[in-house]
Amino acid sequence: MRKIELANTSEKIPILAQGTWGISGAFWKDKKYYDQWKKSLEKGIELGMTHIDTAEFYGHGKSEEVVGEIISNHQRDELFITSKLFPLHIREKTMKKAAEKSLKRLGIDHFDLYLIHWPNPFVSIKKQMKVLEDLVRNGRTRYIGVSNFSVDQFQKAQNYLNNEKLVNNQLKANITDQKHLSKSLPYYQSEKITMSAYSPLGHSGYTDLSGETKEKISKVAKNHGATIQQIAIAWLINHKNVFTIPKAFHTNHTIENAKAADIKLSEHEIKLFYDNDKEKVEILNSFTTN
Ligand SMILES: NC(=O)c1ccc[n+]([C@@H]2O[C@H](COP(=O)([O-])OP(=O)(O)OC[C@H]3O[C@@H](n4cnc5c(N)ncnc54)[C@H](OP(=O)(O)O)[C@@H]3O)[C@@H](O)[C@H]2O)c1
Repeated sequence: MRKIELANTSEKIPILAQGTWGISGAFWKDKKYYDQWKKSLEKGIELGMTHIDTAEFYGHGKSEEVVGEIISNHQRDELFITSKLFPLHIREKTMKKAAEKSLKRLGIDHFDLYLIHWPNPFVSIKKQMKVLEDLVRNGRTRYIGVSNFSVDQFQKAQNYLNNEKLVNNQLKANITDQKHLSKSLPYYQSEKITMSAYSPLGHSGYTDLSGETKEKISKVAKNHGATIQQIAIAWLINHKNVFTIPKAFHTNHTIENAKAADIKLSEHEIKLFYDNDKEKVEILNSFTTN
């Protein structure tokens, strides 16, 4: 699996993480359902997608529990685990308690990366940053970051930190929703901060693509002997400083997605999908596959 440096930490993480939004905590879900989730995630790990993305919000904690079961089958340092703080905890104490609860569900003593899930105007960013910094100091997370923050909010958050750097902003970015590629990515590229692109397949899996986009992506897919979903994933990670997080319940999807890591698109193919001017966005000229 191709890797990317997480910001300028010298930590190398897979270019593809595995998403877990959608692991349901509903009482009617049976063993077969959870077994399939675990099978798919384990296959992803086997193929090098050792970074798993979860959040206390997903399935009201069930996602973290399922990821915890997966973690228990592995050496802790084989996996890179990201989780996210639900941004409705107002007090420092409840934020720290929430982090501890997430760790408990995951069955680990530290996250690799811990994010504020999204900004909330009613919760102090300063307080959230103090909590993140305390979690690093107490060994509860190795790295910290945010999600769904604008560049302005990201900079404000960074300014509240005394000793740590935010290494990541997790943002929605895909072939049909490019606003963060235009607005935010140039900043993160210039600052060497890693942007993770969530919903790389538009959340739906791009079974609903139509018109010009479908035509173009089908053509590129044919040229590479790939599926349109593989091209949509490859398109994101052919950009500098970007890794992405596809979610796949079905194992055949996981296998397909892993192969997308090695698809090198030409500059022409990448620009074919740009919906507006992206002069400041840097694409990868080359990468080594393994
Ligand atoms: N920070 C945030 O606010 C935030 C928000 C949204 C998402 N995320 C993260 O990003 C992850 C991914 O985003 P997402 O869950 O919105 O959706 P996504 O990855 O864009 O799309 C998931 C859909 O694509 C299908 N799929 C996956 N691989 C495929 C393939 N090779 N061929 C055809 N279909 C394929 C999946 O099917 P099956 O599942 O049936 O296999 C599922 O229906 C989340 O799970 C979560 O970890 C973060």
